[in-house]
Amino acid sequence: MSLHSNVTVSHGEPLIFDLGKPGRANTYFSDGHSADEFVPATYLRASLPLPDNSELDVVRHYTRLSQRTFAIDVGFYPLGSCTMKYNPRVNEAMAALPGFRDLHPYAPDELAQGALAVMYELERALASIFGMSAFTLNPAAGAHGELTALFIAKAYFEKLGQGAQRRTVIVPDTAHGTNPASAAMVGYRVISLRSDERGRVGIDALRAVLGDDTAVCMMTNPNTLGLFEDHIMEITAAVHAAGGLMYYDGANANALMGNARPGDMGFDLMHLNLHKTFSIPHGGGGAGHGPVGVAERLVAFLPTPVVSELDGTYALDFERPEAIGMMRSFWSNFAHAVRALTYVYANGGEGLTRVSQLAILNANYVRAQVREFLHTPYDETCRHEFVVSAQDLKRETGVKAFDLAKALLDRGYHAPTIYFPLLVAECLMIEPTETESKETLDGFVAALREIVETAHANPQAILAAPVKTVVGRIDETRAARHPDLRWRAPV
Ligand SMILES: Cc1ncc(COP(=O)(O)O)c(C=O)c1O
Repeated sequence: MSLHSNVTVSHGEPLIFDLGKPGRANTYFSDGHSADEFVPATYLRASLPLPDNSELDVVRHYTRLSQRTFAIDVGFYPLGSCTMKYNPRVNEAMAALPGFRDLHPYAPDELAQGALAVMYELERALASIFGMSAFTLNPAAGAHGELTALFIAKAYFEKLGQGAQRRTVIVPDTAHGTNPASAAMVGYRVISLRSDERGRVGIDALRAVLGDDTAVCMMTNPNTLGLFEDHIMEITAAVHAAGGLMYYDGANANALMGNARPGDMGFDLMHLNLHKTFSIPHGGGGAGHGPVGVAERLVAFLPTPVVSELDGTYALDFERPEAIGMMRSFWSNFAHAVRALTYVYANGGEGLTRVSQLAILNANYVRAQVREFLHTPYDETCRHEFVVSAQDLKRETGVKAFDLAKALLDRGYHAPTIYFPLLVAECLMIEPTETESKETLDGFVAALREIVETAHANPQAILAAPVKTVVGRIDETRAARHPDLRWRAPV
């Protein structure tokens, strides 16, 4: 089947256009009536080449497609830095309540009290869990949160009269790539900081780049190696002494809840990826939610609106003269706020602490076994994730991290994150999450062990993987740089 002139899909599932038969679709008008009775002629098209399918055929078609190659609902997905945990179905039920789902974003405050209460209570819960004074629910994803936080920092320094002077943002080499990108977008000069042999920010290296031009130091803790920055109090004190602000990338906060709070570590700004830690479906570029938390001295700069509460009545507050403006229309991704608050209430404080404890336990359970057959460059107790390197394996067998990832797919497991963070050669970054059972973790370790053994005995078998998936190896560069998935009607 041809998607367009030079791509052919040959996996046995017809296109939805080819599945249909004329007249098979459900009809929306009773006999004798047609659309032109109800729709003005100017809006009617002469031809609309939509497929003609029954609802049942559509459901089956998309269910089959959703399970091609891999589906999160059918297999383990240990994608490091992504927290692919189970998303409880009760979250969806709450987000679909008609009172939330059908509420118009222009509804006046008095008709939206329930929705405003959700936002207010979520904001308060996040402030308490992470030790910040206040959060904005404006940003629509993690990187958007970084951008928001850096605008807040900029506004703060401008108010202090230091806007022109504080032009640099320090980012350790363990950081996610969005950190330097966000800083550059706000106009900052980025200084990349090499981590030390323990995979952490060295205090002397940091001091060497601190100065009166420092605006912000952006850190991830636990960092992307899964390691806790054990000198964090010294680090935040040093940045503050230089007049800078500390920013916490909390995209991966799954090890933190109930264990440690960025506010207590001295961070002034942070973002969260609710679509990871707070069990909201994500991936494929879908809608996210990246609230930003701030310390007291930055609260005035939060974007509008802020939800306020007085004697049990909630209101959207736009009257905030120092606010940086709006980062997102209306109430941002409100349904995600409902999902996140559901998750908070379903777990409670003790439950969230347990989530983090189990995430750490599961990661270390897997790590302790994987280190028997793959090199662990930072061989110590990790937090919610850890990295291993396939560098030795590549030298001995020619099998790379990339090949291990493909071979895992054949065995029913999604690959861990590969080639990130960049400072580990042939890196695999494994994050099991708390929601997986011991049996699943054992199965994954056994599959990875067997792949490594096969790589030594018969590398070709691994280099040819995947052989059981719908498509084998594709041209990844072309797929990423020139995706062209639009169907075009035959002419
Ligand atoms: C550490 C870290 N920071 C920031 C981000 C960016 O988040 P988003 O993809 O929601 O923009 C991610 C996403 O994976 C991340 O892992």
